[in-house]
Amino acid sequence: MRIRFPDKQWFREKMAGLGGGMSRLEIDELERKWLSVSLAMIGLFVGAIVVTAVSQGVHPPSHVETIDSASLHLSQEFAEDKLGVQPTPLADGSLQVRLVAGRYGFYPREIEVPAGRRIVFRMASMDVLHGAHIPMTNMSTMIVPGYVSEVVSVFPKPGEYPMLCNEYCGLGHDHMWSKVTVIAQENWREPATGGKQP
Ligand code: CUA
Repeated sequence: MRIRFPDKQWFREKMAGLGGGMSRLEIDELERKWLSVSLAMIGLFVGAIVVTAVSQGVHPPSHVETIDSASLHLSQEFAEDKLGVQPTPLADGSLQVRLVAGRYGFYPREIEVPAGRRIVFRMASMDVLHGAHIPMTNMSTMIVPGYVSEVVSVFPKPGEYPMLCNEYCGLGHDHMWSKVTVIAQENWREPATGGKQP
């Protein structure tokens, strides 16, 4: 069977255009402008990631420190009586908070931290992938099983904040959250023990 091409003028023009036009790509002036804008934006974003990674040590939360998720409760750091706000501040005065994430909660369930102080969160998962997020703050990280996630935050305003799980971890994911109470600096007392227990 023969394929019949239309012998109309528009068809001949189109075919001629394809033959001759493909060798030099024509880009509309406006299109060219938008192309450079979008390429510049991509360059800017990649540049920002590279600059912060190099200058501020920003890195993905995992692959830095490993830990055995199955024996967290026996570990030096994440044993049950070592969780919560640590009684001894770090050398620079920051407070360290240790949390274990597991289906479906963060343990301890409630923590109290002072406002305006550098808080170093160290978190590990006892089962699957979780996320920790305190809305309206920079506190947001994935908690990958097998790795310790560390994130630093400062809460300027006293109040009650929820800490939510933001990685789908199972049927109870929606109910996985803990309470973070930020206490005004003048009312803060250093914890005597390993913080509040669940
Ligand atoms: Cu844990 Cu979602």
